[in-house]
Amino acid sequence: MKKISTYQEYQDIYQKSIEHPELFWAEIAESFTWTKKWDKVLDWEFATPDVKWFVGGKLNITENCIDRHIETKGDQVALIWEPNDEKEPVKSYTYRQLLTQVSKFANVLKKMGVQKGDRVCIYLPMIPELAFATLACARIGAVHSIIFAGFSASSIRDRVEDAQAKFIITSDGMFRGSKNLNLKSIVDEAIADIAAVAHVLVINRTHEEIAWNKERDLKFDDLVKDVDDFCEAETMDSEDILFILYTSGSTGKPKGVVHTCGGYMVYAAYTFLQVFQYETGEIHWCTADIGWVTGHSYILYGPLANGATTLMFEGIPTYPDVDRFWKVCEKHRVNIFYTAPTAIRSLMAYGEEPVNRFDLSSIKKLGSVGEPINEEAYHWFDTHVGKGKCPIVDTWWQTETGGILITTLAGVTESKPSYAGYPMPGVKPCLVSPEGQPIEGNDKEGYLCIEFPWPSILRSTYGDHERCRINYFSTYPNRYFTGDGVYRDEIGRYRIIGRVDDVINVSGHRFGTAEIENAIGEDEAVIESAVVGFPHDIKGQGIYAFVILEPHHQANEETKKSIIQTITRVIGPIAKPDKLQFVPGLPKTRSGKIMRRILRKIAEGDTSNLGDISTLIDPSIVEIIKEDAKKIN
Ligand code: WTA
Repeated sequence: MKKISTYQEYQDIYQKSIEHPELFWAEIAESFTWTKKWDKVLDWEFATPDVKWFVGGKLNITENCIDRHIETKGDQVALIWEPNDEKEPVKSYTYRQLLTQVSKFANVLKKMGVQKGDRVCIYLPMIPELAFATLACARIGAVHSIIFAGFSASSIRDRVEDAQAKFIITSDGMFRGSKNLNLKSIVDEAIADIAAVAHVLVINRTHEEIAWNKERDLKFDDLVKDVDDFCEAETMDSEDILFILYTSGSTGKPKGVVHTCGGYMVYAAYTFLQVFQYETGEIHWCTADIGWVTGHSYILYGPLANGATTLMFEGIPTYPDVDRFWKVCEKHRVNIFYTAPTAIRSLMAYGEEPVNRFDLSSIKKLGSVGEPINEEAYHWFDTHVGKGKCPIVDTWWQTETGGILITTLAGVTESKPSYAGYPMPGVKPCLVSPEGQPIEGNDKEGYLCIEFPWPSILRSTYGDHERCRINYFSTYPNRYFTGDGVYRDEIGRYRIIGRVDDVINVSGHRFGTAEIENAIGEDEAVIESAVVGFPHDIKGQGIYAFVILEPHHQANEETKKSIIQTITRVIGPIAKPDKLQFVPGLPKTRSGKIMRRILRKIAEGDTSNLGDISTLIDPSIVEIIKEDAKKIN
């Protein structure tokens, strides 16, 4: 793969990629190792939808991410692991050692009975075994479904059931800052009544006491003792499923986004190279958790497919001190630093002094992902972390897109604060009006859709293809609908405005308002609730819940606590509302629909003009909610 090196070249390549997408992607795909070359580059239609890339091609992504680098880079470090506790030794693995670790893990999985096509749920902290487990699944053709280790037992249960997973990989516990969490007990609770789970593989991390189910639970340390240190890679079809990753939408429970082997690999690798302008030998640190798509594509697959050195960090930015990120950058001489606006904003609050304690001269490129980066955070990042000499890429993409779709290319195309930038080659964005009219030309705002498939577009939602069609391909026929609003400026740069559906983005984590409302509804004190997002200084968006209580429950702190506990139990601590207001009723129209725009205004604290409320059954409720909201903080 050849790097794009000037703006002019970007424009030429973009043009070529749009005119001849199949030729364009075929040329890129040529640079990978295929067991058998594809017969056809692309088959697609968005009505069903049915998208296939590199049709008939055979490969294994781990051969591309590991084996093919052994000859030239066998002794180069592939993975650096920085532990939560800085007194614990760092671990690093060369490409050769990574192959052994992944092979051994793969052989353990085989010994457990995992077969090609089986779904394996992984619920682990950010330890090297998380990387090995993920790649081991890919090695033997099992489908990994990683569950972020901040989700509750009930969220795990939903995912395990939906994916019909027979195997789970977890650890005794996890370290996170000064906290110690017992993951195994959460898994035990999650699968207590799922008979289909054959085995739980347990990795030792915290060495604490854990409950043990003799028939079901297996110790990784026992199984790994006598396995071979090489495992042949399973030959996979281009369109075999590589992984499922659950994400929230505007309706129902989280859905399992399906990505397949060939297209995902090509796109993750291509975007990593181009966006970060990766140069041989560079050390890349993406601060995301592998439990989110960012970690999948830009901690593991993208960097490894390019033979880069990737760093994974177990801890949090504020432990043991608020300078931890910068300390790690200095310690490992990080060259590419990819993080989230919410992290920048939270660290900005401590001023620049903690940053200046360290030598950050190794950093050459900065990246941001998860939500639009506000100007203040952008400038702080630029000045204090990048010292004014590092390009910043603001990368827009989604779990469903598998890789970055709109961005600048570090140092090649010019960045503008609060703008994601330009479409990647092969990506055809289009704007539509809410009614579905295409909006041509520049200096326009609209809903963001994509008109043509790129290699890592989601293929389905696991177990329910119709849901995939309805969610992404039916609102605007023949287009993939992103759910985001966007502005296209005079020269064709894109500025992402935010979600236009009932999804809120809290610290870069997606939640459906309905999903949180359902969780609140599980509390016995609650009759009904409505959840909206509101602007939050650190998190981007905060969660504001309006709750109607059953008559015999008191609107007090205790009830509030119990509801928050219910949400933590049903989804996880990450979905806790920032504000919770008890209300006597909700603003509903005669057809029973909650008028959310009113609640959003109230949550924003902007009640000067609530618009027409005459269609509400009981307009007087608005006044009460508005007045009570002033007391909430
Ligand atoms: C938002 C994360 C603006 C957007 C990779 C999208 C962004 C959702 C950006 C996907 C960005 C992500 N600028 N908004 N650079 N990156 N988003 O699936 O609303 O967790 O639809 O994927 O995050 O979130 P997801």
